[in-house]
Amino acid sequence: MTSFRQLVFSGVQPTGNLHLGNYLGAITKFVALQDSHDCIYCVVDLHAITVPQDPAQLRQSIREVTAAFLACGIDPKKHIVFNQSQVPEHAELAWVFNCVARLGWLNRMTQFKEKAGKDRENASVGLYAYPALMAADILVYRATHVPVGEDQKQHLELARDIAQKFNNDFAASIASEGFGEAFFPQPEPLIQGPATRVMSLRDGTKKMSKSDPSDYSRINLSDDADAIAQKVRKAKTDAEPLPSEEAGLKDRPEADNLVGIFAALSDQSKADVLRDFGGGQFSAFKSALVDLSVTKLGPIGAEMKRLVHDHAYIDSVLADGSERARLQACETMKAVKSILGFVQH
Ligand code: TYM
Repeated sequence: MTSFRQLVFSGVQPTGNLHLGNYLGAITKFVALQDSHDCIYCVVDLHAITVPQDPAQLRQSIREVTAAFLACGIDPKKHIVFNQSQVPEHAELAWVFNCVARLGWLNRMTQFKEKAGKDRENASVGLYAYPALMAADILVYRATHVPVGEDQKQHLELARDIAQKFNNDFAASIASEGFGEAFFPQPEPLIQGPATRVMSLRDGTKKMSKSDPSDYSRINLSDDADAIAQKVRKAKTDAEPLPSEEAGLKDRPEADNLVGIFAALSDQSKADVLRDFGGGQFSAFKSALVDLSVTKLGPIGAEMKRLVHDHAYIDSVLADGSERARLQACETMKAVKSILGFVQH
């Protein structure tokens, strides 16, 4: 078996407000992995344009996501923070993967079906090919670990299938070019903990999402203490007291969601939370959740607001990160081109 250097890669789209789901499902994991791994964190602006974007708003959102990464504690000196469009090798490898992936594989992607909706004929080709670009993001660095929320699981499986098919289809060339048995690793999704799928505060059966028309459905990372408190207080619940055991959360999606959020924010398990709050009414639990959310998220929002205005600093972080990312990406593309049989000068 070929062994690969352990490397973490993940990406976040600059499309609208970052919310508690992005934070608990992904960004807190990004922060934690910094101590044990080399990490590359990307603002995926090429993915953003698979649906229409206003250029001025997109520019602002790219800076906002970067500011959020930094405000949450990602260190852009020790690790790499950059925006995808500045490393053209992502798009280049995505083309190669468009030729490796099968139509049948992409036809199964549930996120395309959800995002394209009923008007599929009118969806962009980019939206359809989105998962091949995502595979390229990861594999252009030959990354081995990918922290994401539950909703990205199917895309990660596709990235693994693409890596494997490339390795199989070009096995002889990979070996003769001196890369051993496999050129690409099988990237492993890291989807763990009590908040891998944070649900809407208005409807516990729907994912918390940037595109929900109700702002009360989500806590934005930029929300101030008052907004956070109001949204938690108004969050939908049911009429029963909280259960004392995790099994009692079954078929109670709103209770399950709030307990999961509390657990993730306080670094405990759901069972720990229920040990403290089980048997009690939602009002007391919600007060504690307001305090916890404001304590954890308040300083992040304030730091994000401060940083996002400092264009010179944010843009210098992205420029430095892009340059360092590009060195690695170029090396991979050079190898991919010789494996494919392209003549290089
Ligand atoms: P995006 O921008 O939609 O979301 C960024 C990250 O947040 C996670 N997430 C959630 N986690 C828990 N509960 C939720 N309600 C919730 N909503 C979002 C997502 O799972 C994701 O980890 N396709 C990706 C971006 C991407 C990428 C990549 C990720 C592009 N290339 C390569 C990893 C590796 C996306 O649209 O994420």
